[in-house]
Amino acid sequence: MKEKNMNITTEYHSLYQIQSDVAAVFVFQDKQLFQKSMKELSKPLSAQLTPIIKLEDFSGKEGQTCSLYTNDTLRTPRVLLVGLGEVKKISLEKLRRAAATAAKKAQTLKITSLAIEFPFLLTFSHSEVAQALVEGAVLSLYKFDKYLTKEKSEKNIETLKIFTSLSSIIKEVKKGVESGAIITSAVVHARNLSNAPGNEIYPETLANDAVQTAKKYKFKATVFDKRKIESLKMGGVLAVAKGSEKTPRFIVLEYNKSTKNKKNTIILVGKGVTFDTGGISLKPAAGMPEMKMDMSGAAAVIGTFQAVAELKLPIHLVGLIPSVENMPSGTAMKPGDIIRHYNGKTSEVDNTDAEGRLILADALSYASLYKPDLVIDLATLTGACVVALGNHAAGMLGNDEPTMNALKISGDATYERVCQLPLYDEYEKQIKSDVADVKNTGGRWAGTITAAWFLKKFIGDYKWVHCDIAGTAMLETPQEYIPKGGSGFGVRLLVDFLKGRK
Ligand code: BES
Ligand code: MN
Ligand code: ZN
Repeated sequence: MKEKNMNITTEYHSLYQIQSDVAAVFVFQDKQLFQKSMKELSKPLSAQLTPIIKLEDFSGKEGQTCSLYTNDTLRTPRVLLVGLGEVKKISLEKLRRAAATAAKKAQTLKITSLAIEFPFLLTFSHSEVAQALVEGAVLSLYKFDKYLTKEKSEKNIETLKIFTSLSSIIKEVKKGVESGAIITSAVVHARNLSNAPGNEIYPETLANDAVQTAKKYKFKATVFDKRKIESLKMGGVLAVAKGSEKTPRFIVLEYNKSTKNKKNTIILVGKGVTFDTGGISLKPAAGMPEMKMDMSGAAAVIGTFQAVAELKLPIHLVGLIPSVENMPSGTAMKPGDIIRHYNGKTSEVDNTDAEGRLILADALSYASLYKPDLVIDLATLTGACVVALGNHAAGMLGNDEPTMNALKISGDATYERVCQLPLYDEYEKQIKSDVADVKNTGGRWAGTITAAWFLKKFIGDYKWVHCDIAGTAMLETPQEYIPKGGSGFGVRLLVDFLKGRK
């Protein structure tokens, strides 16, 4: 998928030197810090600042902004003050949101370049701060507008400059800006894949995108077609695909195969249902269009590979993406059908709308071939997860507490948060079948947990974490730097987690 990326740079400049259509400057609300900021700005802007301070139109509160127009002492015609709130409450997420506020404000003007002054903070590393600023600014400007043919009323911000006049930190800042640029472009790619309609992205074209991405970012992609999937006896993938004219694909990604770090192979599995009608157990019409995003787990895996390869992380990573379209038809699988999966285990199809677990079962058992240390799957798996956690955290279940703790830490840092749910033995009996090894539904209660229990039946001898991203991958209401629709959730979480693995 083609993306025109923003031009993002680090500049060794002061506010006096920076050249841009607008320069955003962050201001804390704490009295001393506020006054210090105002003093620094007073030389070029005093005529406007004095009444603003006196009338308290801008006091550095979180979310507050104030546009000022400069005289010829500056090379930027506009300065945008952006409030950061209290210094003791500052966080990376607040910086992302403040950068998003600046970017969205700039976007309302007919301009093409934005500069953001780097705020010197003692609580975080300079590279973390710089990365957060780029994330907030770039991701807040995302729009899925490739199908809109009418002239756009706004210009696009094409250039983002993060600037500082502190020579001692410039290297660190630059490092963070570069990571931020790599990661945001991977998130944008994942969002584009999620938002693409079902007539554009189906198993074959999803696989093509993976192959293109692999070529561009230098990792390996192998695509199994229907015949190969048949020969491998991946019964779950074949059963779900049966109802559709679109044939299934099983995509295998591999990064850094030759690394000596082989005992540490990590596998990412992504649910790639390119459209989920529910099949014969048809979904109601309301909300069905969103099911074009039922491949958001796959999108997050492809995006993560893109970022990991560009960041050259020293790990061996494998990606497995089973991809199908779940349709009702004369050839579709039916409730009551019994499937034999890749590892020989059988499952009873109680509801054809519980299709994600059927294809993931094949992928999770196939994963054993690699003797991985760890397998993480991402899947828009259950509506129950949206009921439980809404849009603000993914459900996390698995068999390895240390890995889940590490993911929790990465989730809090990136704000792609995960919330652990239990996988107690007692839940297992809800998916017991009289006619097969397991049933694909677990009744009304604890739907996210019984879905995870189904997956657990197919894992091998490896550490495993399942993330149910049904609520976080697609938004009905926009958030600070996530527009409505596909969020690209999982890319930033996984990249942060994988950065911590050596
Ligand atoms: N793709 C859906 C889950 C989903 C729902 C994702 C809402 C995002 C938003 C999944 O395939 C599904 O249909 N799950 C069923 C399972 C049930 C039949 C056991 C569900 O959650 O209703
Ligand atoms: Mn479904
Ligand atoms: Zn689904």
